[in-house]
Order: sequence, then structure tokens, then C-alpha cells
Amino acid sequence: MRGERPAWVQQLHQEYGPVVHLSPSEVDFCSISAAKQIHRFRAPFLKSNFYTNLRGNSIVADNAFTTTDLVYHARHRRLLSGPISKSSLKSIEPVVTARVDLAIQKMGEEMKARGCLSFGDSFLMLEIGKKNQYAEDLETVASLTCLRASFPASIRFASSLPFKLPLFHKASESAFRISRHKRIVDADPSNAPPTLLSKLYQAGEEGLSQDEIIAKARTYIIAGSDTTAHSLTYLVWAVCKDDTIKRRLAEEVAVLREGYTDDDLESLPYLNQVLQETLRIYSAAPGPLPRFVPEGGCDIDGYWVPGGLTVTTQAWSMHRDSSVYPDPYRFDPSRWENATKEMYDAWMPFGGSPSNCIGLHLAQKELRLATVRFFQAFPNAKVSSREGFSDDDMMSKCYMLIFPKGKRYLIEGS
Ligand code: HEM
Repeated sequence: MRGERPAWVQQLHQEYGPVVHLSPSEVDFCSISAAKQIHRFRAPFLKSNFYTNLRGNSIVADNAFTTTDLVYHARHRRLLSGPISKSSLKSIEPVVTARVDLAIQKMGEEMKARGCLSFGDSFLMLEIGKKNQYAEDLETVASLTCLRASFPASIRFASSLPFKLPLFHKASESAFRISRHKRIVDADPSNAPPTLLSKLYQAGEEGLSQDEIIAKARTYIIAGSDTTAHSLTYLVWAVCKDDTIKRRLAEEVAVLREGYTDDDLESLPYLNQVLQETLRIYSAAPGPLPRFVPEGGCDIDGYWVPGGLTVTTQAWSMHRDSSVYPDPYRFDPSRWENATKEMYDAWMPFGGSPSNCIGLHLAQKELRLATVRFFQAFPNAKVSSREGFSDDDMMSKCYMLIFPKGKRYLIEGS
């Protein structure tokens, strides 16, 4: 309920070691070998009912993320992964770049008008400069979804009450608003700007129904907005807190030639180390990825685990294992200069196969472009202490996704 589960599990690992029996039916493993076994590509452990609880009762809302049906999952991943693959994303790059440029322009305006700049608003709201009802609704759906998965019995109880609690009422309205996306595409499909979903409309019988496409849009918006927005917020904060890191990054991006593309950014060593390190300490989805142990049980890291038990692996702990990452709580991008194989093996901000993040290439592209544009525009940005802002605001809460507990990040500079 307090959004502190990953840190609590990590405390238990520090006290008891890499295997922690969290409840009668759940064990968390913090080792590369266990993570590889649980998330292997062939015969993976199936997603637990945590995911079906995320979906609730609606069949329409099922998607690649929430389904536990392997055939459905494979079909949907096949359809979704094409448009979002590394090569297909080239056609979306101008859209990403235009959004990033608009974000930087708005930041510059805010910096001038207010003397400092606040991070934490979704980039979806760039034009109006603040969150609109649509974004508020989507966040409500996301938080309700997480509560429903964690406390299914309480949600069933709340739904049976003769009156509606405000949170649940708002969330059911949100589902209606999401159909706005469908109306935009329906109105003029050929002139609609390219989106990740465009190709799904032309997939014929193999494709998805309108209802399924709307459900995909919602999944993408929830899975793809706050994950990247919060990663970027933490990246800028962590970099601005350390002058040496900031100077090195700002110098690297300052010499890029006009008209550079994301291909050029992929080869910038320090930028990529900064990203790698941000996704290590500030993984946007660092919590458990619960999976059922297959029928008959199996041996994991020398422990016999009966079939049907839930096993979890959380990036929060994998990324703070001091035997893999010395001084693990320190934000130190240069640790990736001579990274070991273990460092790459334990690094799982995007989950594990075969259900790892479909959007990982898009997310990294957005983060690279936004980071470069930001530090080109504001090479002297520094953490502000205005309005009582402090490091405490940036402590993480985690309801499936992390966010700064103060829900704001203030920076100043030019
Ligand atoms: C920094 C940004 C991101 C992070 C850290 C992240 C993290 C993750 C993680 C850890 C999973 C696996 C969850 C599990 O196994 O339970 C996942 C799955 C997923 N992500 Fe992301 N994500 C990010 C951005 C995105 C974006 C931009 C999109 C799409 C536009 C996206 C779409 C999805 C989808 C559809 C799944 C479900 C895949 C499946 O179950 O087969 N994510 N993400």
C-alpha cells in the first residue's frame, strides 16, 4: 500500500541472502542463474495470476502484457513487435524528435518565466503545458490496475458497495475517454500521422479487432509514457547532482553536428553509459515479475520449489547486488566503461525473455534524443532548492512503476 515493496524485498535480501521466502506461496530470487532459468526463452515459467488481476474482468482489455495464454501472447507479440522493432522505428523518429524539440522549447519558456523548471508532467501535455483530464484518467487507470493486482479481494469488496468510491468511478470513465484514439484514426486513416498502431489496421484477418486495437493503445500509453518520462526525470536529476558527470556529458553532446540522427547518438560512449546506469538504479518497473513454477516443481539455485508456487525476480535487487556492481547505490556511469559479462547479465530493466519489454528500442531512442537535446539546451542545469525542493522529493514510490514521491523535480540554470 505504501509503494515500498521493492526496497523492502531488497532489505530482506541484505539480511537473508539471495533467496527470500516472502509468503507461504512466494519466493524472490536475486541471482543471474535464477533469473535466466525463470525467464528462459524455451519453456519459460508462466506469468502468475497477478497479470490476470491487472486485467480485471474485461476480456476486451486483455493484451500481450496481461495474458497468461501462450498462443494469444505469441500472436499479439508478433503483431505488435513489427511496428516497434528497431528498423521500423526509423519512420517514427521524426515524430519523436519533434516531440522532444517541443518539450525543450516549453522547458526554456518555463525556465524564463518561473526561474526554474519542473519535471514530472507527462510529455503528452506539451502543448498546454500541464496535465489534462485525459492524462489524469490514464494515471488513475494505472494506479487502480496496480491496486487491483496486489489486493484483488479488497477491490472485489469495494466494487460490491452500493455507492462508488471516487477512484473507481473515475477509472471507469477513463476507459470511455480512451476511445478518442479510435475516433481520430477512424476519421481520416490515410492522413492520420504515423503511429505504432497504424499498421495494425491494415493487417487484414490476421490483424486485431477495433476493440483490441483500442486496448493496445491504452497498454502502450500506460506502458510507454510514464516509464520513459520518469526515467528521464531521474536521469536529469542524477546527472545534475554531480558536476563531473554533467560536464562530461554536456561536452560529449555539445560537439554533435547539426542534423544528427539517433544512429549518431548510439555511438556516443558516455551518453550510453549514463543511460545504462540510469536504467540500473532508476529502473522504471523495478518490482517483481511474478511467474508460476511449472507443475511438478523444479530446482532453482539448489532449492526445491514446488509446482504452482510464485517465484519473483526484481530488477531493484538484481541491480543492487554488490558482488556484480561494486558500491551499487552510487550513480556512476563510468562503471560501464569496462563492464563485465555479469553486469550485463544482471541488468534487466526491461524484464526477461520471452515477455520482455516490446518498447525497449523506442524507450531508448526517446531517452537518447531527449537527453542530448536537454543537455545541449541547458548545459548548466542544476538541482534547485526553491520551493522547498530537496532530495527527499526524489525518493521513489513504486506502484508497478516508480515515481518521485514528491511528484516534482525542480531544476534551474541556463
Ligand atoms: C524506460 C522505459 C521502459 C521500461 C523500463 C519498461 C519496462 C518493462 C518491463 C520490466 C516489462 C516486463 C514486465 C513483466 O514481465 O512483467 C515491460 C513489458 C512491456 N512493455 Fe515496457 N518499459 C518501458 C517502455 C515501454 C514503451 C515505450 C512501450 C511501448 C510503447 C512499452 C510496452 C511494453 C509492453 C507492451 C510490455 C508487455 C510485453 C509482454 O508481456 O510480452 N514499454 N516493460
